[in-house]
Amino acid sequence: YSDPSQKIDYVFKVVLIGDSAVGKSQILARFARNEFSLDSKATIGVEFQTRTLVIQHKSVKAQIWDTAGQERVCGRCCDVRLIWRASEYRAVTSAYYRGAVGAMLVYDITKRQTFDHISRWLEELRNHADKNIVIILIGNKCDLEDQRAVPTEDAKEFAQKEGLFFLETSALESTNVEDAFLTVLTEIF
Ligand code: GTP
Ligand code: MG
Repeated sequence: YSDPSQKIDYVFKVVLIGDSAVGKSQILARFARNEFSLDSKATIGVEFQTRTLVIQHKSVKAQIWDTAGQERVCGRCCDVRLIWRASEYRAVTSAYYRGAVGAMLVYDITKRQTFDHISRWLEELRNHADKNIVIILIGNKCDLEDQRAVPTEDAKEFAQKEGLFFLETSALESTNVEDAFLTVLTEIF
């Protein structure tokens, strides 16, 4: 995907946020390496990956940050709830958002709760990130149409009300993943 000898005109930091297991890491794997894994493990700590693209004749290095669904609960193998001191929480959160020019707010279309939590994520974003940050709401796992719990219209309406871009994606089938990143990166540009 990327050519290391390429001259970079811009570096854009974009953060992925949303509940655990909505597919943030797989959306990133699809975008950065065109890979997908069904038995992806919960993310521990903070990771990032990059991909360089050409947008309007400039090379843009997208640096995409990924962290655990910050309910800070392992919703998969156990019920461990990570207890953070308020000061630790603030330090980690502000480092995560620092310098971010784009954010992808992800929920799982088959899990209503992950959509209901979006307003909390938005609040965290608005408390910690730059006020000009470009935000896209992403309903992931749209390949699981038969298990859909969040109507597209509900999400569209919410996005409109909050002034967010909106797309439904499937990291598994590659649907709209590229488009979601390009929407954010082009708008930043
Ligand atoms: P945390 O790191 O715990 O915050 O979770 P996450 O949001 O990074 O979720 P992750 O990417 O690890 O994906 C969770 C599970 O959903 C894995 O089993 C993935 O294979 C699966 N998954 C991710 N994207 C899709 C998708 O588009 N469709 C389907 N069917 N499954 C997906
Ligand atoms: Mg993850």
